[in-house]
Amino acid sequence: MKKVLILVVALTLVTAGVAFAGIANTKHNLSTTNHPATNTYFSTTEDEICVFCHTPHAATAVPLWNRNTPAGPFTGYSSNTFNGGTIALGAGSLNCMSCHDGVSGLNVVINGVGPGAGRAITMNANGNIIGAGPTNLGTDLSNDHPVGFVYATSKAADTGIAADTTALNANWINASGATTIAGLMRNTQMECASCHEPHVENTYDATKVSFLRNANAGSNMCLTCHLK
Ligand code: HEC
Ligand code: HEC
Ligand code: HEC
Ligand code: HEC
Repeated sequence: MKKVLILVVALTLVTAGVAFAGIANTKHNLSTTNHPATNTYFSTTEDEICVFCHTPHAATAVPLWNRNTPAGPFTGYSSNTFNGGTIALGAGSLNCMSCHDGVSGLNVVINGVGPGAGRAITMNANGNIIGAGPTNLGTDLSNDHPVGFVYATSKAADTGIAADTTALNANWINASGATTIAGLMRNTQMECASCHEPHVENTYDATKVSFLRNANAGSNMCLTCHLK
């Protein structure tokens, strides 16, 4: 009986670990501390994990953001059938692009650890910038899912878009309390953070882990918003 109980507890822990492994065990751990051995980009000097993105003081923007706004300029999505109006990236996308533009230095933060501007950060031999490949989106976002537009503008003009009051199914990672599509928006806009949660690497698909807020099996993530 005791053995069964231990097994159940162990299995529960394993399952929980799979769905909600913390940021340390992801590619967003750029520190020297406990990052996965397979990570390409990490520091050889900085042991703090959060400092690459957040600072408790002297932040530039929400959420206590520790990085410069990427220079861009970014080319947004457009098509004959897109109804979202003008594209203007908000923080929920610019924050990501401060590393994923293939130009910005991963090691460049506003407020390093320690007094004043704090200590400088040195990266490993793979460099300060994300190299060419699928994680380098560049500044041309016209070949990426549209971001930086007001969801309600699309919804008003497009009957194929779900109401923003639509409830999210239980698979959505909504640590900040989002229960509907509206909760996925940042300042009412669709942004990278609407689909991605940068701290949690879900392992729904172990061969393709992409910080997604939901499993996309059967395209069920896409089908939350797209009535297709
Ligand atoms: C690679 C960049 C990155 C790192 C590293 C990072 N964060 Fe974040 N964090 C973000 C982004 C981007 C957002 C905004 C996400 C959104 O809009 O949903 C955010 C939002 C947050 C928020 C507010 C929203 C929420 O989810 O509750 C908290 C709190 C937070 N981060 C804490 C931390 C802590 C603590 C650490 C270190 C253990 C950390 N973060 C490391 C990128 C990062
Ligand atoms: C959180 C909601 C949301 C999710 C999740 C989502 N989309 Fe979208 N998507 C939108 C909105 C809103 C638009 C803008 C629609 C418009 O204005 O025509 C859009 C636009 C698009 C477009 C361009 C439409 C056009 O008219 O040019 C395509 C294609 C698309 N999405 C496919 C996908 C796919 C595939 C997935 C899953 C991988 C996905 N979307 C997930 C909300 C979402
Ligand atoms: C501090 C820099 C930084 C910020 C900010 C950042 N990322 Fe990343 N991200 C990285 C690095 C470095 C990698 C690993 C790239 C590689 O190995 O090719 C990565 C990888 C990823 C991956 C691929 C994960 C995988 O397992 O293959 C996704 C998806 C991703 N980031 C999305 C985002 C999104 C969305 C945001 C904003 C909410 C964001 N990132 C913010 C640095 C950052
Ligand atoms: C509509 C939802 C949606 C939005 C918005 C979105 N993504 Fe993604 N992203 C996805 C999905 C789904 C995948 C996984 C695709 C796959 O498995 O091939 C992905 C994959 C990625 C990857 C990994 C690419 C790879 O093949 O390794 C990166 C990096 C990434 N996204 C960054 C971003 C950034 C930065 C933004 C904002 C500019 C963004 N995403 C906006 C849904 C989205």
